[in-house]
Amino acid sequence: MHITMVKKRLADGSPCGKCVQAEELLRSRGYWERIDEVVWAAEGDPESEGMRLSAQHGIEIAPFFIVRDPVVPDASVVDSSQPRIYKSVLSFIKDQLGSGSLSAGSLSAGSLSAGSLSPGSLSTEPFEQAAARLAGAEPQEVLEWGLRTFGEACGIAFSGAEDVALVHMATRVGLPFSVFCLDTGRLHPETYQFIDQVRQKLGVEIALFSPQAEALQAFVRTKGLFSFYEDGHKECCGIRKVEPLRRALSGRPAWVTGQRKDQSVTRLELAKVHVDENFQGSKGALVKLNPLADWSSARVWEYIKDHDLPYNALHDQGFWSIGCAPCTRPVRPGEHERAGRWWWEAETKRECGLHVK
Ligand code: ADX
Ligand code: SF4
Repeated sequence: MHITMVKKRLADGSPCGKCVQAEELLRSRGYWERIDEVVWAAEGDPESEGMRLSAQHGIEIAPFFIVRDPVVPDASVVDSSQPRIYKSVLSFIKDQLGSGSLSAGSLSAGSLSAGSLSPGSLSTEPFEQAAARLAGAEPQEVLEWGLRTFGEACGIAFSGAEDVALVHMATRVGLPFSVFCLDTGRLHPETYQFIDQVRQKLGVEIALFSPQAEALQAFVRTKGLFSFYEDGHKECCGIRKVEPLRRALSGRPAWVTGQRKDQSVTRLELAKVHVDENFQGSKGALVKLNPLADWSSARVWEYIKDHDLPYNALHDQGFWSIGCAPCTRPVRPGEHERAGRWWWEAETKRECGLHVK
């Protein structure tokens, strides 16, 4: 395989912003050494090598990638003697550099356990054995196992709080992954801004899942916008979070959350890898990964600072655990981190149905 990256140099001599971002992404994922040559398309100079290649392949944007002797998953469909052109750095990574680039024969399909559980695993290690082995593993190892075992459909649930650490770890693993967020419609503006920051800074797609319009309209029509202060958050969370999560998970064999044991009395027994008892995945049984289960909040924040990651601006305003705006308030000194979530309800009821039935 021979990879050429075509970058654009602007008239003032500086590289184009998107080219810089693409290079940063490749470097952060450890792929930069795989680029064989960088060719410049100089603005206003049709004779420059990059401009010539742009014209030859009919490409008008930069950067783009030319892959000679590419990885071709199905040689009967695509002619592998032709170079492949990529205008998206993410598609390029996914097809040619990530696990999607492994030939079909190099992975053996197997079931997750000797029993009936078979949620689309690409691994032959029995599930129970893997779960036991990973019980004491670091988050990165758990995450890598998930992405290697289930592929890109293994989705990271991103809530716009500290989950950025998980997304960053996934970029370092270097395998394709996906990220989704349940947009309840009641998130803080800071959370929406943070979601976009993570998209841009880490170069990842974050798929947003919204509530079903009809169910939401009927609920708001009959009960208004703040009924949870009167009769609890279960009904609203059911429509705004749980149903969208069910949809988000239906196409996946596994998902990853940022839950930690020390977050709540309801999470004390949290396993790093287990079968989700509440939701079904694309192949029936769904595997749930909680790579940060053993980490403290302080450890997560150390990771965020060490890697200079963006974080939700609300954390600087006294917010700790962040959910929807009307159901989250800052915590006071000495209070537990989830004291600001559904504060008017009993501590044992402060789960919205994503993790506890
Ligand atoms: S909650 O159930 O009380 O809302 P919490 O805020 O502790 O959950 O977050 C725990 C994990 O659940 C997060 O790290 C994230 O993986 C997932 N999660 C929570 N809210 C969302 C959301 N809106 N979208 C996607 N994932 C979420
Ligand atoms: Fe509704 Fe509050 Fe639950 Fe958000 S956290 S879905 S606003 S009850």
